[in-house]
Amino acid sequence: MKTLNLKVSIAFFLMAALLNCSKDDTSSPEISTMLNIPFASTASNITDYSFQANWVLVSEADSYLIDVSEFSDFSTILNEYKGVAVQENTLVVTGLLPATNYYYRVSAKRGAEITSHSNVITVTTTGVMSEEPEDPTFLKVKANALANPFFVGVAVKSNQLTEGSSYNTVLKNEFSSITAEYEMKMDPISTGSGTYNWQASDKIVKYGNDNGINVHGHALVWHNAVPNWLSTFSGTDVEFALEVKKYITDVVTRYAGKVRSWDVVNEAVADNGDMRNTIFLQKMGANYIKDCYQWARDAANAAGDTDLLLFYNDYATSTNIPKQNKVFTIVDDLKASNLIDGVGFQMHNTYLSPTKMQIETDINRAVAKGLKVHVSELDIQVNQNNDITFLTEERNLAQKAKYKEIVKIYNALPAVNKYALTVWGFKDNESWIPYSTDLNHPGNDWPLLYNNKFELKSAHTGFLEGLD
Ligand code: XIL
Repeated sequence: MKTLNLKVSIAFFLMAALLNCSKDDTSSPEISTMLNIPFASTASNITDYSFQANWVLVSEADSYLIDVSEFSDFSTILNEYKGVAVQENTLVVTGLLPATNYYYRVSAKRGAEITSHSNVITVTTTGVMSEEPEDPTFLKVKANALANPFFVGVAVKSNQLTEGSSYNTVLKNEFSSITAEYEMKMDPISTGSGTYNWQASDKIVKYGNDNGINVHGHALVWHNAVPNWLSTFSGTDVEFALEVKKYITDVVTRYAGKVRSWDVVNEAVADNGDMRNTIFLQKMGANYIKDCYQWARDAANAAGDTDLLLFYNDYATSTNIPKQNKVFTIVDDLKASNLIDGVGFQMHNTYLSPTKMQIETDINRAVAKGLKVHVSELDIQVNQNNDITFLTEERNLAQKAKYKEIVKIYNALPAVNKYALTVWGFKDNESWIPYSTDLNHPGNDWPLLYNNKFELKSAHTGFLEGLD
């Protein structure tokens, strides 16, 4: 065995020497060296739903293209991982099935030059494939079985994501997407110029990636989540803009390939239909929105994530037409520069409003532009006038009907426009709605799908019926 190894090594050495000679003989000094084919190395950090692909850096390559397939001959390549461009020599591949074989290969790229594929690495995700038919009374199970499925999302807090907690069980059973309710906003993440607290946001993103759950990023720029150091910033306006750029770049870069979509700017329009007079508008001028999207796009591309979806997100656009018009002026402007992929409609609704027609008219404006639609923060108040002291059967059923209505509207959208329908929290008593000062909500409310004891409400049945 040892001699065989030795012989192979000698043969290899001779071949390499020969190849080198012929290269030296034919190439003139001006011609740059041949770009080497990368060598793919074994995968690491393998979980039930993800792994990290690795390869050896090639000198002079400016990026790498990676393919991931369930077939060793790459006859079909996973849609999300077809020649994904990466600048590093690793890529975290997510959204996979447990206990399944995957194959990856890499090419190196320098300008227009692309090498042939590397060796192929096989990796098997951990876990066991569930033999049990999934329960169709779980929201995501029913949504996944649709002809044109979409993500069913929920707003989460990092302290809910503990193994064994009821949140964890409900989340894994029912939801296929998560949005951080506040821990991925600028305020908690940005502790100073260029300094960050990633603890909660990392936990949320990792939880999504490890469990095959989509992660929506919310929100890079929002007037209600400006950290103190930035709201009292004493530098010039140009320096202020550079801080915002740095923040967007650093956050998008950190989560490139791990967060599928970001709300880049949240709530830039005031209720009277003018641009909201935020610190960003004041210091950066009317072009600030476009700049932020450009910075987000540039950061994602530079990190090798060319599939990041950029959303604009706002509230009350279905009932407030001047606001709706202004939002779509902004969206058109971004679209003209190819800087937007979708619109988030928050939908903090009530059991009376908006009407089906108002919602459809609003959403269809995004559909007509070929954009993705995210119903991004759905909850349905039943006590906006503080006229009940407990959830009456009448309101309960009215709420159920309203949940069913919006899910039906969403489900009827063309496949290309679907993205996710996200509910803003789990249990009624933990919703942001009751007594919310932002909303001037005067009393208690029951806006979500689960009651205080985590029992399913009729609203949950309404959601399921909307998927029929
Ligand atoms: C709210 C959260 O629910 C609260 O927990 C937080 O304290 C403030 O923000 N529009 C948005 C969301 O885009 O980020 C807001 O979420 C609700 C209104």
